[in-house]
Amino acid sequence: EKGDFDHFMLKEIYEQPAAIQNCLRGRLNVEDLNLDLRAVRENLDTFKNASRIIIVSCGTSWHAGLVAEYWIEAMAGIPVEVEYASEFRYRQPVIKPTDVVIAISQSGETADTLAAMELAKSKGAFIFSICNVVGSSISREAHAGMYTHAGPEIGVASTKAFTTQLICLYMLSLELARANNEMEDFTYWNNLSELAVLDKAIEQVLSLNDEVKELARDYTESTNFMYLGRGYNFPIALEGALKLKEISYIHAEGYPAAEMKHGPIALIDENMPCMVLANCGAGRDKIISNMQEIRARKGEVIAIAFEGDTEIAESASHVLYIPKTNEMLSTIVANTILQLLAYHISVLKGCDVDQPRNLAKSVTVE
Ligand code: F6R
Repeated sequence: EKGDFDHFMLKEIYEQPAAIQNCLRGRLNVEDLNLDLRAVRENLDTFKNASRIIIVSCGTSWHAGLVAEYWIEAMAGIPVEVEYASEFRYRQPVIKPTDVVIAISQSGETADTLAAMELAKSKGAFIFSICNVVGSSISREAHAGMYTHAGPEIGVASTKAFTTQLICLYMLSLELARANNEMEDFTYWNNLSELAVLDKAIEQVLSLNDEVKELARDYTESTNFMYLGRGYNFPIALEGALKLKEISYIHAEGYPAAEMKHGPIALIDENMPCMVLANCGAGRDKIISNMQEIRARKGEVIAIAFEGDTEIAESASHVLYIPKTNEMLSTIVANTILQLLAYHISVLKGCDVDQPRNLAKSVTVE
């Protein structure tokens, strides 16, 4: 079942181009450059009249929610809040019937996410699910939803499910932007044509596997790691850190790069490698100065940057170049590198990649 791969995780990382195609099938019309998301179309008025969107989820699915907050607010102009399902369900949140709640879950069985949506449902909110497992409890409990169609995910660490969650959320953001007249045709078509070739960009980034594996050798003895990103890449920094800690047991933290000087910079020395997501447009100069601050304190910087951006190399000890896509979709491309890095460090350390200690694939108890 693992085919040519040593682990399910690696197989699932490599399945991402196909998973993206499956997720887009029947939804993205490449000829006419438009989208048809049935569950969104059928509930368009509810989405359009939403006073806000609340996203509830856990772990990696929560990170997808954080990315979506940036996307939906930027593209569709609808206020979004993202909550850990476990906090939301117990903190007496204010929920109104005009709220739309989106529950994101690979397994569709996460107890806290299910309870959070039940709570919101009892207060009259409209519940939309984004799940991978067809017929799962969360997908059944929702009023409407989309499936990610990533196929079965066996490795405990979520990879292709996260990627397809982001694809669904990107499509949803674009549809809501159109519904609210917040996006011009030209921008919409541009965003869709980039989406149509994202699988190729992921394919291309997977060819960096050997380079990432080589790089991983330098970090098998590391006990700490910092991941930094700004804007759309901030949640990807969190996700990269989570992936590393869960499968390689290296303590890792993700931070918005600018937050560093509010505390974490105190940790920087030659034993604190920093992974910096420099695949950005507007915030690029700022991220370069963050990198220089780290280097000035003897911290090692590994950067992810767009192909051709050679200036980044001046402030990093190693740069992994990813193909150019729009900034929003580049989160998915960059994240693929972080998946590979965590994977190779875990393998080199002799950890159980697919079944890390203390973790279960679906968390059906709170
Ligand atoms: C991390 C991971 C977990 C899950 C979390 C939510 O790699 O897999 O953090 O993302 O337990 O699970 P789902 O998405 O099934 O609700």
